[in-house]
Amino acid sequence: MKQQLETIRLEALQALDAVKDAAELDALRVRFLGKKGELTAVLKSMGKLSAEERPVMGQIANNVRAAIEEKIESTRAALSARALEVRLKAEAIDVTIPGEPVQLGHRHPMNKALDEAKDIFISMGFKVLEGPEVELADYNFTRLNIAENHPSRDRSDTFYVTDDESVLLRTQTSPMQIRAMEQIKTPPIRVLAPGRVYRKDEVDATHSPMFHQIEGLVIDKGITMADLKGTLETLIKAMYGPDSVIRFRPHHFPFTEPSCEVDVQCFKCRGVGCPTCKGEGWIELLGAGMVHPVVLENCGIDPNVYSGFAFGIGLERMAMRRFKISDMRMIFENDIRFLSQF
Ligand code: DAH
Repeated sequence: MKQQLETIRLEALQALDAVKDAAELDALRVRFLGKKGELTAVLKSMGKLSAEERPVMGQIANNVRAAIEEKIESTRAALSARALEVRLKAEAIDVTIPGEPVQLGHRHPMNKALDEAKDIFISMGFKVLEGPEVELADYNFTRLNIAENHPSRDRSDTFYVTDDESVLLRTQTSPMQIRAMEQIKTPPIRVLAPGRVYRKDEVDATHSPMFHQIEGLVIDKGITMADLKGTLETLIKAMYGPDSVIRFRPHHFPFTEPSCEVDVQCFKCRGVGCPTCKGEGWIELLGAGMVHPVVLENCGIDPNVYSGFAFGIGLERMAMRRFKISDMRMIFENDIRFLSQF
């Protein structure tokens, strides 16, 4: 029996040395150590041995089993190490192959113009606020002193989100005036609120159903129209150059009193009149005015103590003037050949 056990050990170890894959390894494990395996068969016949021989043979059998098990484990480890090596080799990347050039995007001229404007206003002590594009009609219209029957509330002009017309896509950034006053509560308030706005307009060279505005709001004691004028002049001269000329025209907005529109002299013809300014010599840039006392009251600010000014700039328009772009559609097409010119 001892001889038998030694033969099993020898055969098993030799066979394991020649194993090439996990399947072969498993087959050998079954052949030698399995329930119907060779070693098990020998162990089963130990009953026939004498009482003195049995522990001696048992000891030898255990040694053989241990040797085979150990060999199986080390073979398994060697196999998996080899498999990993093969896989790594197969998956190796040839770093010497020239890469495909990645086409980089480009900063959008509108974002460039916005960043310039933000810098200018931040240097004047303004804080930048952001707010929701899905807005309450209460903020977009009512609390801005816009009457219930005002044409801008019409379904043909405004994208309503709910049937009862209480929720909409904001048509202007002016509701941010209300949100700023609610948030900051006690003046001084100096905020800039850029963002997207939506109106039911057909796309053409100067219109898009989605565009951007920059809202500005300043409230403090003793704020006058002169502060508005100085602030906007600072913006325009910083953006368009120190010799650029602006003019203030009377206008009407429900949320400001008095209200005005601000034009910049045409950069092409310097006020003479040309196709770019449609013969006017001036290009409209923004709406502005002194915050209406009713709007202040609607936000819990006493108009007898505080006054303020507000303005709303068309960002596309500002970027178009800044970079001399003639068609607004170019701004939204995102053609990299166009964008990379700025
Ligand atoms: N919200 C106005 C518009 O979309 C622009 C505007 C005018 C904003 C006067 C203001 C303002 O803050 O004071 O046409």
